[in-house]
Amino acid sequence: MIKKTIKFKKVSSTQDTAKRFIHKNEEVAISSLRQTKGKGRHGRSWFSPFGGLYLSLLLFPRTRLTSIPLLASLTIVKVLEDYNFSKLSIRWPNDVLLNNKKVCGIICEQFEKAIICGIGLNVNIEKFSGKLNNATSLKIESGKDFDIDEISNQIVGKFNPLYNELQNEGLKVKEVLNYIGGIGEPVELITSREVVKGSVYDIDDDWALLLRDHYGMIRKFYCGEVKQLRW
Ligand code: BTN
Repeated sequence: MIKKTIKFKKVSSTQDTAKRFIHKNEEVAISSLRQTKGKGRHGRSWFSPFGGLYLSLLLFPRTRLTSIPLLASLTIVKVLEDYNFSKLSIRWPNDVLLNNKKVCGIICEQFEKAIICGIGLNVNIEKFSGKLNNATSLKIESGKDFDIDEISNQIVGKFNPLYNELQNEGLKVKEVLNYIGGIGEPVELITSREVVKGSVYDIDDDWALLLRDHYGMIRKFYCGEVKQLRW
């Protein structure tokens, strides 16, 4: 249960700042107004100017949880629904899409018994250049500015009960199923060992992705990067 958010104006990455708090053994959130070395998945960088929300949740889950990224995605979707956004979907497990464009990215890193779940949400960013042309922000989609601090509080407030439920094994996967984009659609799943082409079949009870591969076999994955081939 995250009881407080420690706020910074500028850090290299809230992921790295969160690491410095591990020894305190306390679940906290770290936020910053901007990052100079925002970290994305697979060694990529994360565009982190003022106007974005940069939040890292430092967690000490009681059990091994593979579903934290999906839980964070679900939290973001629920928060954005409360701000009246629709056309939200989750690209399993780490990305939230708004109108089919990426509005939020999530990275989960494990350090000993801590998991640091980093959330980057494009809030008031007005434009994305070149290779980020499939990104969007709340401002681009709505024409309005948002209070980033308020959204941060909403995220922590919504994450806590879901996290609690998950740890008590009370959270059912059905919760996320409605939001998983592209069921039945062709995708490529990139894992550290292989690239599998297939189609999204389902999400299993333990929140793993079920993919139907080219041979019609249903295969189960706990992590990987889903690339849409045509959504
Ligand atoms: C992705 O590649 O989609 C994941 C991006 C995660 C970005 C967030 S912003 C807050 C936290 N701090 C970082 O340096 N990265 C994560």
